[in-house]
Amino acid sequence: MRIVHTIAELRQALAGTTGCTFVPTMGNLHEGHLALVRQAKERGGPVVASIFVNRLQFAPHEDFERYPRTLERDCELLRGVGCNLVFAPDEAELYPRAQTYRVEPDPALADLLEGHFRPGFFTGVCTVVLKLFSCVQPRAAVFGKKDYQQWLVVREMVRQFALPIEIIGAETTRAGDGLALSSRNGYLGATERAEAVALAQELRGIATAIAAGARDWEALEAGAMRTLQQRGWQPDYVAIRRQGDLGAPRAGAPLVALAAARLGATRLIDNLEIGAV
Ligand code: PAF
Repeated sequence: MRIVHTIAELRQALAGTTGCTFVPTMGNLHEGHLALVRQAKERGGPVVASIFVNRLQFAPHEDFERYPRTLERDCELLRGVGCNLVFAPDEAELYPRAQTYRVEPDPALADLLEGHFRPGFFTGVCTVVLKLFSCVQPRAAVFGKKDYQQWLVVREMVRQFALPIEIIGAETTRAGDGLALSSRNGYLGATERAEAVALAQELRGIATAIAAGARDWEALEAGAMRTLQQRGWQPDYVAIRRQGDLGAPRAGAPLVALAAARLGATRLIDNLEIGAV
């Protein structure tokens, strides 16, 4: 596995290769990221992963500075799952001057849920993803469905700009108790870690209620918000939406339940796909 830090080295390393599959990450890798790389490997061609903590997608009060930088360990893990090339640029390489040209995703998709609570987040994500795509020029890219809205926003960006890249959504990897794996789980203390599973449990509770015939979406959302609050969480949202565009539920449309909530100082997100009702 080769590790490169500049766009020039990356282009040189990729010269003559076609059809690579790309896994963009911010590092601090866990089993969930490795599952994305394994899925990328299954496609047969070379696999390129990037490691770059993207300042543009963090608000000033968020955890950009304290986001763990664990390059050596990340590279070992990537080597272990057969990644072929790691692109790990520093900020001066990817943003040699202020990145004033940015991608503004459609507010109809990008200003709700995560975008509502993290204004500018998806502009930051789309801008870096487009730039990374332009550096790596992959044939396909794998995104975790744990960041469900991110996956949809990137998929739509690729459609709107007619980029010749297949966007693959990978299922969420969960710990034994059901907690969705996330780099931010590392911020949780032992008591918080034991409590963190409640987020996934609330989503499963919603899915079970819908399977049993519940259709009052607002009551289901409010009930889950209340339970989380009572358990000491500060929920931003619990929302039942259509899978395709995160619009309000409609008869026959497959649904997804999404949630974001803070537990102590850590903000966690999760979601669960629910079949059509
Ligand atoms: O999901 C992430 O880790 C990031 O948002 C991404 C896609 C690597 C862009 O910085």
